[in-house]
Amino acid sequence: MDRSLFELTPATRWLGARLDVFSEVDSTNLIAERLGHEGAPDGTVVMADRQTAGRGRLGRSFFSPGGRSLYFSALLRPACAPDEVHRHVFAASVAVAECARAVLPARCAVEIKWPNDVLIDGRKTSGINLPVHMEDGRVVFAVLGIGVNVNLARDELPEELREIATSLAIAGGKPLDRVRLGEELLAQLEREIDLLRGGAFAALLERYRKSFRMAGRKVRIGGPGVAREVIGTVLGVDEEGALLVRPRGGAAEPIERILAGDVTLLRGEA
Ligand code: BTN
Repeated sequence: MDRSLFELTPATRWLGARLDVFSEVDSTNLIAERLGHEGAPDGTVVMADRQTAGRGRLGRSFFSPGGRSLYFSALLRPACAPDEVHRHVFAASVAVAECARAVLPARCAVEIKWPNDVLIDGRKTSGINLPVHMEDGRVVFAVLGIGVNVNLARDELPEELREIATSLAIAGGKPLDRVRLGEELLAQLEREIDLLRGGAFAALLERYRKSFRMAGRKVRIGGPGVAREVIGTVLGVDEEGALLVRPRGGAAEPIERILAGDVTLLRGEA
């Protein structure tokens, strides 16, 4: 019998010290953004059993049925420069990947697809986004939105997602305690963000690289807001978290340093 998300009591110090749980919302990101404007404290977490208008990156929607998964948004008020706020998505993807690895059998391949999708056996199980609210060139707050497909069965996924998405239960072969996973994920996320706030982004990136399996893969980078499509071979992730890609023209081409975009993994090598 699945426990209710209302039972969730994370063993954290500041992340989720205020935790608002809902049965159904449009989007936890929207609620956290509203709380951000109303002055709610750093670390406020909004969680919902189901979202009717879950928001993905790049204007996409995020499939968010009830009773199966985890959807939450953390309101953060980081004292960092605007060009460092993106580091929180690295913290979140490391937290999700490490929690997934801890609950799945060793045969499951957990990896991070740059910048922040967590894949299991090549299929997406978690999405992360980070809308940032700025004023006068300063970060006022950011909303770290995380969705994890936990107990979805394959036939519950919409047809168009069946080949590209999965859940922890599909991959691991058994359902999980969503409440416990939520508690563990919040605790892990708090540790990662504490690391960031302590100035240890390099150490966090080292752990990110352990879940990064894209080196040598052929990719296409495009999507809304990307001026020029790039096709090439992934070399790695630099010290700022940018994706390094050798364009398909060959060794003479300058290496592309990708800061944002939608990455498609292509078959074969570039
Ligand atoms: C993506 O993969 O494109 C990012 C998906 C982020 C989804 C999460 S679910 C909780 C939070 N609320 C939202 O509306 N979106 C994020």
